[in-house]
Amino acid sequence: MFNVRQAVILGAGLGSRLRGTLDDRPKGFLKLGNRPLIEESIAKLVRTGITDIVIVTGYCHEFYDQLSEKYPFVRTVLNPDFATTGSMLSLYAASQYVNSDFLLLESDLVYEYNALQTLQNSPKNNCILLSGKTGAGDEVYVGISDDRVVNMSKRRDDIKCLGGELVGISKISLELYKHMTDITPAKYKHNSQYQYEDCLVDVSDNVAIHYQCIDNLAWIEIDDENHLNKAREKIYPLVEQRDSEIIISKKVERLVLLNPGPAATTDTVKYAMVVNDICPREKEFGDLVEGIRQDLVKVVHGEGMYEAVPFASSGTGVVEACLSSVVPHDKAVLIINNGAYGKRMQQICDGYGISHIDCNIDWGKPIDCNHVEALLEQYKQDLSHIALVHHETTVGILNDITTISRIAGKFGVEVIVDAISSYAGIPIDIKDAGIHYLMGSANKCIQGMAGLSFVICKKESLENTKKIKPRNFYFNLYQNYSFFSQKHEMQFTPPVQIFYALRQAINEYFLETEQSREKRYAEMNEVLENGLQMLGFRFLVEKKYRGKILTAIIEPEDENYSFSEMHDFLYKRGFTIYPGKGATQNTFRIANMGAITTTDITNFLGHLEEYVVKKDIKLRQP
Ligand SMILES: Cc1ncc(COP(=O)(O)O)c(C=O)c1O
Repeated sequence: MFNVRQAVILGAGLGSRLRGTLDDRPKGFLKLGNRPLIEESIAKLVRTGITDIVIVTGYCHEFYDQLSEKYPFVRTVLNPDFATTGSMLSLYAASQYVNSDFLLLESDLVYEYNALQTLQNSPKNNCILLSGKTGAGDEVYVGISDDRVVNMSKRRDDIKCLGGELVGISKISLELYKHMTDITPAKYKHNSQYQYEDCLVDVSDNVAIHYQCIDNLAWIEIDDENHLNKAREKIYPLVEQRDSEIIISKKVERLVLLNPGPAATTDTVKYAMVVNDICPREKEFGDLVEGIRQDLVKVVHGEGMYEAVPFASSGTGVVEACLSSVVPHDKAVLIINNGAYGKRMQQICDGYGISHIDCNIDWGKPIDCNHVEALLEQYKQDLSHIALVHHETTVGILNDITTISRIAGKFGVEVIVDAISSYAGIPIDIKDAGIHYLMGSANKCIQGMAGLSFVICKKESLENTKKIKPRNFYFNLYQNYSFFSQKHEMQFTPPVQIFYALRQAINEYFLETEQSREKRYAEMNEVLENGLQMLGFRFLVEKKYRGKILTAIIEPEDENYSFSEMHDFLYKRGFTIYPGKGATQNTFRIANMGAITTTDITNFLGHLEEYVVKKDIKLRQP
């Protein structure tokens, strides 16, 4: 279980001994692999459950400031006197953001993931990481006594009982940090170069500081060209090799879900749910929800204009919340139905007695925009909204929400989009597309857990709905939104652990980036569809309309074929496939969303082929 969720990285230094190589970049931006050291460190921190990273900047701080734009969970704070002050003043500068126990790291470290995992797993609240002998040349030796750190020095002779060499990664409790920041102003008056290591020793009489030594840890701090060369030639390749061998847990079997959600999750998302019990009415939980709300909006680029309203519910719940909360009593909604989820919106409206005009299309066929425009023209007096599904999961068709929304805009009709299966898998620019309400769910392409869904609402439109006499209670969009805005608490009991998992999943999304996630999914889809085609399977939807995250495959007519038998055969081998859903022809479905890879798809195709051959199923048309 990973307890500590905050990290502070000290990145203010000048890096003067590496000036030639650095070219006006901070040391954290040195590259040994395909991304800067600081980003490698951030990725490791995220993998160990850190959800809030504070970087103290100084020299060329703009580089770090840009990082905080890329990763919403990264914040920067400037030590303006970085050129003349020691590292403790930088750590002191972080105090405005430090609100819990944290991991403290230096920005110029190359280290294996095991370093963080060891500290996170240590039962000790204050714990300094030590290693065996490195021969680095500027080692800091740590002296210990009775399981506690008592002194540190660059001279080996100063140390009576050696615990190991200081790595520069520590776990600091809030209590210890307070002791450190309390004494800093007075110390700084006498010594502007006051270092955080000295401060740790200075407070060690009052607070127990423990240590954990990993004898053969692969790590190096890069201060000069020699270090850089050693890092490049020896340490970095070793770190890469060891990190690739890490299995976070052997207890959870890795299964490949090819059903359209709940999608497969990373182990780190699974473990993010193992948290201390907390009452969701505590400010700490409110802060977590607020951060998630903001980032959910950011995923679809709606910052400043949109608000995310989360609900403890499945996807259908938020579709219901939206439709039953936003359509005025004297107005109607035009619902486009080219799959089961479009039809479901009509059923929800029937349940609430909300007037709706239906635009029904054969499932698997694209929307005819001219027909939609004609309906809008015909019913413009009655309509307040148009509702459609972005990625119709019934058949894997991608509807053109931007064109529909532009047409709706001509009639002053607001747009409701069910993006439950596409959110975070297919890029959406909510402002550019002119969408007023967009529904998403935590368990599909954002790769979190089931039980939490959300509506991303244009703030102006949401505010207008407060005039509508509620038809609902639990699902009232405006009430849920305003309750949270006023109290910093969810109105009804939230699925606490699922929120922590979503926090982790969102961080992993930003780490992967929007483009790379789309690319990973699209590549898996290409491998899948090519493989299926080679075997002789046929697809329901024309290629140009398919969304690249789910494929509806026409069932073979061969008498040897049985979906349930094929399902069981694959399930036993670790792959879950999905039946079809009432389209014009019988289908089964394979989704390629979630924490899976092209290798999984290739392996799946191998097993599918085995089944087809074994059962002698005829797929190609004679
Ligand atoms: C587009 C779409 N809308 C709505 C839903 C319903 O979500 P849930 O099954 O979580 O209620 C799904 C589920 O797959 C979906 O794909």
